[in-house]
Amino acid sequence: MSYKEEMLQPGALKGKAAMITGGGSGLGKSMGRYFAKLGADLAIIGRNEEKLEKAAKEIEAESGQKVYCYPADVRDYERLSEVVEQAGKDLPHLSILVNNAAGNFISPSERLSHRAFDAVVDIVLKGSFYMTQLLAKHWIAEKMAGTVLSITTTYAWTGSPYVVPSACAKAGVLAMTRSLAVEWSKYKIRLNAIAPGPFPTEGAWSRLMPGGLAEKFDPKKIIPVGRYGEHQELANLAAYLVSDYSAFINGEVVTIDGGEWLQGAGEFSPLLDLPEVYWDQLEAQVKRSRNK
Ligand code: HXC
Ligand code: NAP
Repeated sequence: MSYKEEMLQPGALKGKAAMITGGGSGLGKSMGRYFAKLGADLAIIGRNEEKLEKAAKEIEAESGQKVYCYPADVRDYERLSEVVEQAGKDLPHLSILVNNAAGNFISPSERLSHRAFDAVVDIVLKGSFYMTQLLAKHWIAEKMAGTVLSITTTYAWTGSPYVVPSACAKAGVLAMTRSLAVEWSKYKIRLNAIAPGPFPTEGAWSRLMPGGLAEKFDPKKIIPVGRYGEHQELANLAAYLVSDYSAFINGEVVTIDGGEWLQGAGEFSPLLDLPEVYWDQLEAQVKRSRNK
C-alpha cells in the first residue's frame, strides 16, 4: 500500500455524475480522472474548450465513462445558468459539484490594481457561490440529494502575504461551505472542503513561483514530511468526500499538506534547524544546574 495508489473500492461512484470546474487540467483533471475510474460520469468546465475536449477524450478512453465539456468562465453567471440547465439534461444523475477552478498570482498587495483583486475574487469566491447556488437550485427543484466539495487552501484561515486576493476569496469559500452545510442540510445537500498544501501543477507553479522565485522559496523545505503532495492522494480524499462513505461529514475542511501550516504556526518551529549537538549541550547544562 502506498499514498500513490488508488484507495476507494471499484465502483465507489457508480451511478453518479460530477461537475468539476477547472476539470480540464491540474488537480481538477486528476480528481475527474479518478472519479471516472470509480464509475462516475463527468461534466467539466473551463475557459479553454480545446483543453477540455482533450481531457475529456483521455478520461473517456481510460474509464469508459461519459465526459461532457462545457466551456465557460465561472465569472459569467448567465453562461453558468445555461451550463447547469444543459448538464441537468445531459446528466440527470448529476449530484456532485467540485468547486476547483481558481485564479491566483503572487504580488505585493500595494502593487495590485483593483481589477487584479477583482479577477481573483470573482473567479474563486463569486464563481464558487454561483456554481453552488445554481446546482443547489437544480437539486432542490428535482428533489435530489447533492454534495459540494470546494478546494480551498490552508491560508484561508492563516492568511498569507503576497496572495491577499486569493486568501480573502478562499476564506469566503470556507465560510460559504460551513454556512450552507447547516442551511441546506434540510435539502440533503452536503458541503465540505479540502485545504491542500503544495501539489505541483503547471498552473499554480507558473503563477506562484514565476521567474527565479522557485530557487528563493522551495515549499518542500517547510513541509514536515519533506515532499510535495501527489495528485492521487488528493484525488483519494476528494473521492471519499463526494462519495456516500462520507455521508456523516458535513461542513468540514480537511487539510492535506504534510503538516506545513502547523509548522509555520508553531512558536518554536524555527528551532527545527538546530543541530542535535545543541540539544546535547542544553541537556547537560540543565542537568548540571538541577544537581546544584
Ligand atoms: C499582478 C496581475 C497579475 C500578476 C494579472 N494581473 N496577473 N497583477 N500580478 N501576476 C492583473 C492584470 O494586470 C489585470 O489588471 C487584472 O489582474 C486581470 O488580468 P487579466 O489577465 O485580464 O485577467 P484574466 O485573463 O481574467 O486572468 C485571470 C488571472 C490569470 C487570475 C489573472 O492568472 C488566470 O487565468 N489564472 C487561472 C489559473 C490560475 O491562476 N491557477 C493558479 C491556481 S493556484 P489591470 O488593472 O492591469 O487591468 C492556487 C494555489 C494556492 O490557487 C495555494 C498554493 C499553496
Ligand atoms: P491550475 O492548474 O491553474 O488549474 C486551474 C483550472 O481552473 C484550469 O483548468 C483552468 O482552466 C480553470 N479556470 C481558471 N479560471 C477559470 C475561470 N475563470 N472559469 C473557468 N475555469 C477556470 O490550478 P491547480 O493547481 O490545479 O489548482 C486547483 C485548485 O486547487 C484551485 O482551487 C487551487 O486554488 C487549489 N490549490 C492548489 C494548490 C496547488 O499546490 N496546486 C494548493 C492549494 C490549493 P482554463 O484556464 O481553461 O479556464
